[in-house]
Amino acid sequence: MDELKSFFAGKKCIIMGGLGFIGSNLARRLVDIGACVTVVDNLIPEYGGNLFNISGIEEKVRVSISDVRDSHSLRHLIEGQDYLFNLAGQTSHLDSMEDPYTDLEINCRAQLSILETCRFYNPGIKIVFASTRQIYGKPDYLPVDEKHLLRPVDVNGINKMAGEQYHILYNNVYGIRACALRLTNTYGPRMRIRDAKQTFVGIWIRFLIEGEPFEVWGGEQLRDFTYVDDAIEAILISAKEDKANGKIFNLGGDRVISLKELAELLVEINGAGKYTIHPFPPDRKKIDIGDYYADFKQIRETLGWNPRVPLREGLNRTLLFYKEHLQGYL
Ligand SMILES: NC(=O)c1ccc[n+]([C@@H]2O[C@H](COP(=O)([O-])OP(=O)(O)OC[C@H]3O[C@@H](n4cnc5c(N)ncnc54)[C@H](O)[C@@H]3O)[C@@H](O)[C@H]2O)c1
Repeated sequence: MDELKSFFAGKKCIIMGGLGFIGSNLARRLVDIGACVTVVDNLIPEYGGNLFNISGIEEKVRVSISDVRDSHSLRHLIEGQDYLFNLAGQTSHLDSMEDPYTDLEINCRAQLSILETCRFYNPGIKIVFASTRQIYGKPDYLPVDEKHLLRPVDVNGINKMAGEQYHILYNNVYGIRACALRLTNTYGPRMRIRDAKQTFVGIWIRFLIEGEPFEVWGGEQLRDFTYVDDAIEAILISAKEDKANGKIFNLGGDRVISLKELAELLVEINGAGKYTIHPFPPDRKKIDIGDYYADFKQIRETLGWNPRVPLREGLNRTLLFYKEHLQGYL
């Protein structure tokens, strides 16, 4: 922590998707450790961006409401920055099937525009890209390591895979330092809870707090979960350490849990609540990846990262946050 503080103090950091769940938590942390932070977000209402996410730090960050698909504004945003945290994305798997071109524009084409801008106007910048476990598709074996075949099951996975690989290519060919983290289910304060577009955990928490039963689809699927502070630690270490350049790392969680067990744990921590089990809706079933949990040995061995916040503790912190700030997220 102290090491990160002395490292990032005074550094110019730009966060694409910085009003979203992970981006805003990263912005808060970077402000905390003394970095000069610019957040870029287009605030499309169906995505996770929310101005409430930066409440309390609005005077300490520069906010640009703009779209990473607008390649002309990118030059002015990226020039002069030391670190670029590339978290802007269309995250809904189902939406990527219903509107594949928007997903293509944001998760693939705009990623190339960001990298081209760096190539021409800021080749000394360091980039961390938020990739996803979705690109593995249905696992052939568990836990899934980075050598696992990539076989995405939806349009979002294909575009995120391309976005990730562009970053590694620009690192290898042009020397623009970049690395990618394949995030698994990430949860915590400031995630979208209005609906299940970003994560089912969000809508479960909303219904729990509102005293309504929530729906569990299937229930037997195994998953791992990373608390957002742990994901941010991984992002910051990857930015700081040059041995991460050109690398791709899985993130993971402290335990593996079925969705039904997760529902039970949430009800227990909340002290009340009900859920019902339903079969997967057919459109979701077709793009579901079944059981997944990550092998994150590589990042542990290379960068010393480990998830530190146990699931129970992380869920408790998340519930407390939304009990206090529910109105900011409805
Ligand atoms: N949360 C997870 O569990 C998870 C898992 C795997 C990967 N990821 C990746 O991490 C990144 C951040 O995810 P998140 O969970 O914080 O989601 P999020 O939706 O809260 O954040 C993404 C942000 O990007 C913004 N954005 C989208 N398109 C944009 C555009 N064209 N121009 C500018 N801003 C735009 C959105 O408004 C939103 O604020 C995403 O790239 C996502 O694919 C997240």
